[in-house]
Amino acid sequence: MKYGYFDDQKREYVITRPDTPLPWINYLGCQAYFGIISNTAGGYSFYRDARLRRLTRYRYNNVPFDLGGRYIYLRDNDSNQFWSPSWQPTRHKLEKYECRHGLGYSIIGSEYKGIEARTRYFVPLDENLEVWQLTITNHRKQVVALSIFSAIEFCLWDAQDDSTNFQRNFSIGEVEIEDEVIYHKTEYRERRDHFAYFACSAKTAGFDTQRDTFLGYGGWTNPEVVGRGESANSVAQGWAPMASQHVKLNINAGESQQIVFILGYHENSKDQKFDPPESQTVNKKTAKPVIAKYRDHGNADIAFENLRQYWDSVLNICQVNTPDIHTNRMVNIWNAYQCMATFNMSRSASFYESGIGRGLGFRDSNQDLLGFVHMVPSRARERILDLAATQLPTGGAYHQYQPLTKRGNNDVGGNFNDDPHWLIIGVAAYLKETGDWSILEEAVPYDNAPGSEQPLYEHLQRSFKYTLDRLGPHGLPLIGRADWNDCLNLNCFSDTPGQSFQTTTNKEGKVAESVFIAGLFCLAGRELAEITRRRACLDPGPKMQSPCASAEKLANGYLAEVAKMEETIRKHGWDGEWFLRAYDDFGGKVGSKECEEGKIFIETQGFCTLAGVGLENGMAAKALGSTRKHLATEHGIVLQQPAYSKYYLHLGEISSYPPGYKENAGIFCHNNPWVMIGEARMGNGDGAFDYYSRINPSAREEISDLHRCEPYVYAQMIAGRDAPTHGEAKNSWLTGTAAWNYYAITQWILGIRTSYDGLQIAPVMPKSWRGFKASRKFRGVTYNIEAERAGAGNKVALTVDGALMQDNIVPPPSDGRKQVMVRAILS
Ligand code: BGC
Ligand code: NOJ
Repeated sequence: MKYGYFDDQKREYVITRPDTPLPWINYLGCQAYFGIISNTAGGYSFYRDARLRRLTRYRYNNVPFDLGGRYIYLRDNDSNQFWSPSWQPTRHKLEKYECRHGLGYSIIGSEYKGIEARTRYFVPLDENLEVWQLTITNHRKQVVALSIFSAIEFCLWDAQDDSTNFQRNFSIGEVEIEDEVIYHKTEYRERRDHFAYFACSAKTAGFDTQRDTFLGYGGWTNPEVVGRGESANSVAQGWAPMASQHVKLNINAGESQQIVFILGYHENSKDQKFDPPESQTVNKKTAKPVIAKYRDHGNADIAFENLRQYWDSVLNICQVNTPDIHTNRMVNIWNAYQCMATFNMSRSASFYESGIGRGLGFRDSNQDLLGFVHMVPSRARERILDLAATQLPTGGAYHQYQPLTKRGNNDVGGNFNDDPHWLIIGVAAYLKETGDWSILEEAVPYDNAPGSEQPLYEHLQRSFKYTLDRLGPHGLPLIGRADWNDCLNLNCFSDTPGQSFQTTTNKEGKVAESVFIAGLFCLAGRELAEITRRRACLDPGPKMQSPCASAEKLANGYLAEVAKMEETIRKHGWDGEWFLRAYDDFGGKVGSKECEEGKIFIETQGFCTLAGVGLENGMAAKALGSTRKHLATEHGIVLQQPAYSKYYLHLGEISSYPPGYKENAGIFCHNNPWVMIGEARMGNGDGAFDYYSRINPSAREEISDLHRCEPYVYAQMIAGRDAPTHGEAKNSWLTGTAAWNYYAITQWILGIRTSYDGLQIAPVMPKSWRGFKASRKFRGVTYNIEAERAGAGNKVALTVDGALMQDNIVPPPSDGRKQVMVRAILS
């Protein structure tokens, strides 16, 4: 069963009934000001950091689930009836309802008793504000007298403190009202230099800023002020500041009228905070012109048009036309769009990540680059340097950092021994996309400590060395707190309820080893060797003596370590039919046929084959076969089998989940693409694409009542076959799944792969496909690609503007051409 449909032309998903199984959401903003908006206008907004600069309040895990947001009430002043055009919070049965989630905007429209209301929510480019453009149309036969009430609830900035520290917070809320604009200035009198504002384009009949005066005992569903039809003009003194305006409109039969609401964030410099300077009154001089600009409908329309064009230009960098509609739609629109969200938010703010729990993950953000770097390379560059600056001198990394302060998060700490390698992976992706080798010479500190700056390249070296300094009894990497699988806590031994598996004091950990990190080490090591070699031989290159020869030596040293690690994996990381997962603190095997539960894990099957381990000796093929046999389900590949049926002290959080959920044998979508890439590396296009399709959200649209999450974005998890709800997705939007699927389909299945020497064309597509077309902008040149199948294999014969190539890499045009025609014949 479906709850809407894709409008591919407009690049929108159209939700046709408000009672979706879960809030189906969208993100507003793509630079610094962000909002989360559900299909019933629920959600909140923040500036840069969802914890530290939260503009509006949101109560997670509410009943119903999604309550609180950007609300508008319409009131028919003749009948005294009122309703919400976004369905929530009054939940009147609307005669028509439609929510169009688009790229950076959402339009929620409905009709009730002949009154149509449509609100377009978006964040203009380069502004720290959101615009709500409300259009009301009277389809009745006579004039209607309406009251419109807007309503948002302010958060007192730090969302964590806001939801806990009531003894203080109930006394600090402050607002100002001037020229019908409501300014939220809590804590502005002391250390904050920022305030929020809520404005409206129409003449207002009244306002409210004290939440409980506005709501009374009616709550959001039945606010007293709306029922009465008249604002109380309340001025918040502590308690809960909010913003509501009352606008009265008479609309003739058949006529439409528009109102613009603006919610914004504004900063003043420290010495310009007050106006007059000796007063406590907010200086609004620089805020007012911005507000004035967007109160104008025409300007709001222009800003919306600019936003559309921005997204067109971002998405046009890579467009494909394959025989599969779900592939096209995800690659061309939604998966790319989701990659922007994961890049911006990491795992911090969604309807499942509260915005206060986590900053930006080190491994997460590095992996997110795989799906983002081609869209806005300059922002990828900045992110890489920020991440590297939180690296520790040991080469290890803080697991997370706060986007506002750009500092490593001490509460979470480090010692997740896979973390540092992802920096190498992220940087390699950046270099291949941009060819910008200068990034490697950027001076970057360790742990943000002034004076500790070293070239980024050195950070990569330390990342690699980090593992070499931490090898276990078998010569495999020690796992530390955990590896990619945050829940495989082999040194934790937690027996105290409520203790965090990720942060509690661990054993010293000199025994437990990770075969996954070993695979990752091989991949990262090969990238580092290649980077080392090319960096030194650059022309014009960094000033070194006989750079090529010494770099060659260094690179070969890295490759020797990789070869050694591969050998160790073959010796101690192979279980006969598949790759082992780990050794526990007792030296016992994890993910082996000898185990009672958790005999086979996906991570090592996927990552080792992706990294090219065991390709020549048949191990990779066997591992993929075992994956298909033991782990693949119709809804995707589960993380391990058999699921853990009870809690194991020596395994940690993985065994804390009921079977089939999350890391305990859930379909953890993030690692499914590793297997897809492994299949592609083995030349099995059918297998790779089959796995791709099983978790492709668009391909699952028809089973929305089972899947439950949005059909336009990936979710972190789909319940595995051991769960009673097998096939049900959870934790949509913020997941490494977005970047990895994008990377798997574009670079490995369609095979449009970035490389140092140019764009490589190496499709491993399904046998049944006759071909596909694509256009890809790469380093300033547009490559128009046509792949055609002439035989059943994956051998590529490449012609570039008619000339036959020696290999499958398209060299950058030497004559300044900006358009290149590429034909790939597969046989
Ligand atoms: C989740 C993981 C997550 C970790 C860190 C665990 O509870 O299951 O998926 O990575 O917490 O936030
Ligand atoms: C979610 C985390 O954000 C990610 O870093 C981790 O790899 C997965 N969970 C698996 O545990």
